[in-house]
Amino acid sequence: MSIPFLDLLREHREVAAETNAALARVLASGIYILGPEVESFENEWAQFCGVRGAAGVGNGTDALSLALMASGAIRPNQQDEVITSPLTAGYTSLAIIRAGAVPVFADIDPQTLTLDPQAIEESITHRTRAIVPVHLYGQMAEMPAICEIATRHNLIVIEDAAQAHGARLNGKRAGAHGQAAAFSFYPTKNLGAYGDGGAVVSNDPQLIDRVKRLREGGHQAALGEAIAGVNSRLDEVQAAMLRVKLKYLDGWTARRRGLARIYTEAFAGTDLETPHPLDESAHVYHRYVVQCAVRDELRAFLDSRGIMTMIDYPFLHHQQPLLIGPRTHRRLATAEASAERILTLPLYPQLRDDEQQAVIDAVKAWG
Ligand SMILES: Cc1ncc(COP(=O)(O)O)c(C=O)c1O
Repeated sequence: MSIPFLDLLREHREVAAETNAALARVLASGIYILGPEVESFENEWAQFCGVRGAAGVGNGTDALSLALMASGAIRPNQQDEVITSPLTAGYTSLAIIRAGAVPVFADIDPQTLTLDPQAIEESITHRTRAIVPVHLYGQMAEMPAICEIATRHNLIVIEDAAQAHGARLNGKRAGAHGQAAAFSFYPTKNLGAYGDGGAVVSNDPQLIDRVKRLREGGHQAALGEAIAGVNSRLDEVQAAMLRVKLKYLDGWTARRRGLARIYTEAFAGTDLETPHPLDESAHVYHRYVVQCAVRDELRAFLDSRGIMTMIDYPFLHHQQPLLIGPRTHRRLATAEASAERILTLPLYPQLRDDEQQAVIDAVKAWG
């Protein structure tokens, strides 16, 4: 049996009747960008996240850079620093650079694989303006500790929630902890569009208003100063698709958690280190990532059994030539050790039970 890492067609089949109807509705409406579907989705997404407002944009990278720009934390040409994780999608750092700041990388916690609050504190300088915690693989970063540090040092927190739709910590959803948060609706995400899409969410209506201006080129008078915006709009088709899929998200998340529980129980006593969720609701298993000292051997074995795996992410940001700044020469021991050990196994809501069992059997046959 060959086990694909992800099969989006299965998700589409679940929703096809509704998405086809929604698509026909949008095409017949004559309104294709930033219309009533986007506005409705923004309201529904804000409500889902438990925040006051949302702004739909073209993708998650733009959502993150626009949130930073709209926060007012980054001053032009000042080499302002933003602390983030070295273990994340490349887009996190690129968004920080695009917002006009310098990414500074702090080490991660070996269990959650998200930013270590103590390492953040040690990385703060007079140049630091913001923290971008990444809720990696669907696991929320330790937001209470991070927000407490930010408050003490007068820093802005913008959550990179691209992988954490619906995760919840201390009663608050991903996106509701910092000043603002960025979501991606790239098709493979827990809530995915049929193309690119993203959103900024915030409890600050002014910040959302600024993002709405910046996504259409910027607006001098409203910002009080000239900030060049971008062209990054969510279109009506994607918004309508997201509105359909949003109704399924809680069910899909429950299925992800169920599959994760089965993997974790099955791998007890093997050489695999399974994920360490902060608590049940803090992880939505965008990725199910194990750690293994002989990861490459395990990966080759699973591959020989027809099981596709991934390494998310093989390249640490503080080691990338483009991202090496004045203070990025430091070793980040935990991130460097983790990057050698991480392996993502197939897990998505439509993964069949027999396919999961085949993955488990293969891991056990190896170990
Ligand atoms: C953690 C993280 N941040 C940012 C992004 C950027 O999102 P997008 O691909 O929609 O620009 C992604 C997705 O690729 C991501 O996984």
